[in-house]
Parts: sequence; C-alpha cells; structure tokens
Amino acid sequence: MRVGIVGAGTMGWVHALSHKEAGHEVVAIYDLRAEAAEKAARSVGARVAPSFESLLVDSTMELIDVCLPTYLHRRHVEAAARAGKHVICEKPMALSLDDARAMIETCHTCGVHFYVAHVLRFFSEYVLAKELVDAGRIGRPGVIRTIRGGIFPSAWEDWYARTELSGSLTVDMIIHDFDWLHWVFGEVERVYAKSLVGRTPKRLDYSLVTLRFISGAVAHVEGTWSHTGFRYGFEAAGNGGMLSFDSARVAPVVVTQRQQAAGGASVAVPESPLNESPYTTELRHFVRCIEQGEEPRVTAEDAYKALEISLAAMESARTGRPILLKKEAR
Ligand SMILES: NC(=O)c1ccc[n+]([C@@H]2O[C@H](COP(=O)([O-])OP(=O)(O)OC[C@H]3O[C@@H](n4cnc5c(N)ncnc54)[C@H](O)[C@@H]3O)[C@@H](O)[C@H]2O)c1
Repeated sequence: MRVGIVGAGTMGWVHALSHKEAGHEVVAIYDLRAEAAEKAARSVGARVAPSFESLLVDSTMELIDVCLPTYLHRRHVEAAARAGKHVICEKPMALSLDDARAMIETCHTCGVHFYVAHVLRFFSEYVLAKELVDAGRIGRPGVIRTIRGGIFPSAWEDWYARTELSGSLTVDMIIHDFDWLHWVFGEVERVYAKSLVGRTPKRLDYSLVTLRFISGAVAHVEGTWSHTGFRYGFEAAGNGGMLSFDSARVAPVVVTQRQQAAGGASVAVPESPLNESPYTTELRHFVRCIEQGEEPRVTAEDAYKALEISLAAMESARTGRPILLKKEAR
C-alpha cells in the first residue's frame, strides 16, 4: 500500500512510524511546516511533498492518511476521496454531525474506503475487556467508569486551546472512551455532562459525563486536561463480577529512541514495549480492510456515533439538561 500523509505533527509522526512498522510504503509527507515534514519523512524514507495537491495527483498513491488538526479534516478527507484515494483520518472525524455525514457520503459516492482512527479498539487491555464482557465474565454490566487525561496538549499554533478548532476535551479526547463504551456496551440513550470548558483559563478543561445505555447500564466518563502526566483506565461492574484497568498501575519498561524523541511528540501517546503499538495494529488492520476486504473493527458510522455522543455531552454541559439521543441515530 502506497501511503501519503498530510500533517506531520504528533500524530503524523506516530502514523508514519506505524505505517513503516506495518510494512506499508510511506511515499510522501506534506506539512505546511517543511521542517516538520522533512523530519518525519527522513525517519521513514519518504519524500517531502511540495503540496497536498501533489499527493492527490500522484496516480500511484493509493491511501491518504489525514493527521491534521480536527477543523481541517473534512476539507482534506473529501479532497482525497474525490481524487479517488482511500482515506484514513484521525479522530474526531469532524466537529459537527453535518460535516461528519458529508464526509461519509462523499467517500461513499467516490467509492473509496474511509476509516477513522479510533485507536482504543486496538489497545490490548480495551480489546480484552470487550472479550471478557462479551463472554459474560462480569455478568450483566451495570456500572462502568472510565478516566482519561492529564496535562493539556501542546501543538502547532496552540490549536487545542481553541474550542472552535478542537471541540474541547470532551470532543477531542474522551471521544476515545465514548467510542469504546459504545463498542462494548451498546447503544447510548441519554447523555448528561458537567464541564469546565469556557469557565477556566483556556488551557484547563475537565469533564464528567454520564451515559445511560439502552441496556440500562450507566457509565461515568471522566476526562481532564487539568492534571499532570497522562493516565487512562476503566472499571466495569456487572451482576457477576468486575474488571478494571489503570494505566498508572502498570509499569512497563519504556524505550524512547533518541530519533523519536527528537520528533518532539507533544501529545502524550501511550506505549507498551510488551505489545505491538496499537497504532501499528490499527493501521495494518485498515490496510487489510482495503486490500483483503476484512470486516472493519471500527466503521465511519461508529466514528459518527462517537462524535454524536461527544456533541450531546457538550450540549448537556452548556444547557444543564440531559440530552436524549435521537432514535434513528442509535
Ligand atoms: N488517536 C490519538 O491517540 C490521537 C492523539 C493526539 C491527537 N489526535 C488527533 O490527531 C489530529 C492531529 O493532532 P496533532 O496532535 O498531531 O496536531 P499537531 O498540531 O501536533 O500537528 C498538526 C500538524 O498539521 C500541520 N498543518 C496545519 N495545517 C496544515 C495544512 N493546511 N496543511 C498541511 N499541514 C498542516 C501543522 O504544521 C502540524 O505539523 C487531531 O485531529 C487530533 O485530535 C489523535
């Protein structure tokens, strides 16, 4: 698979290395900061593309991987699809449901595969939890708690600090947990949230979201950009037992390569030397879906739902009211 990457910041860098590890050929990387593109390209033996358009007119390029700030996703995903390229896009797929729907429809009309990188479905602990829940090991799930976050992410032009560009912590980060919860525990019926967004200095954010599932289960989703470090985990209790995972309690040996550190990743990206990187597993899976017709573990419709839950949480936090998700959207 010949891949072009647009955006060589934290995630562009991670994707470039992961594609390489998965055995895909990263042909070219474009970033409006040439030095960022150059660094990433050098590390995977790719060339620096002079423009985004040059990736699109290259008839040998099969897949475009969009690792840009979220507000730029729609424009670049649709342009890639119209050029006949398959597309991978970082999460959240967009900042509004209208944009998300348009992206799905454009990719469908253009006959290209479109995958949104909801990577939690490739983290071994989160995959194992799904298998255990599906196997009935905790009985009927009743209460689930998730936690994710730490320090505020630094990035190009501080775009995470602008809610209209990043969607805030609730849309940008705990969307990971919303997607995982939807995958494991099914359709969400009602969303209630409290959030600090807009009430504290810009670079602090905190959210506490309650989801009620159609099954009757309830989840408490906690997200923070007000702490330090980076931590994530879950706890799920059912009438037959309980399972839990806390990243703060595992202590793997961590290898940071000098070259990688020089890439200056500024968003905490968890890694474990005991497993293949979930980003590699994810990208390998998406490419197998394109090449071999494998059933995708996460579809664009799943990404749409995760965004819908995130936006409902934002609306609930703003209005102080619980939000009932539309039946047709479930
Ligand atoms: N899956 C995950 O674990 C995870 C983690 C962090 C971020 N993300 C998502 O990945 C996406 C990128 O986030 P990031 O942290 O890598 O951002 P970043 O700011 O580190 O990188 C963005 C890059 O895009 C470049 N850029 C900006 N506008 C451009 C344009 N028009 N054309 C070409 N290049 C342009 C910037 O120069 C920068 O290098 C976001 O959607 C974010 O939510 C996902």
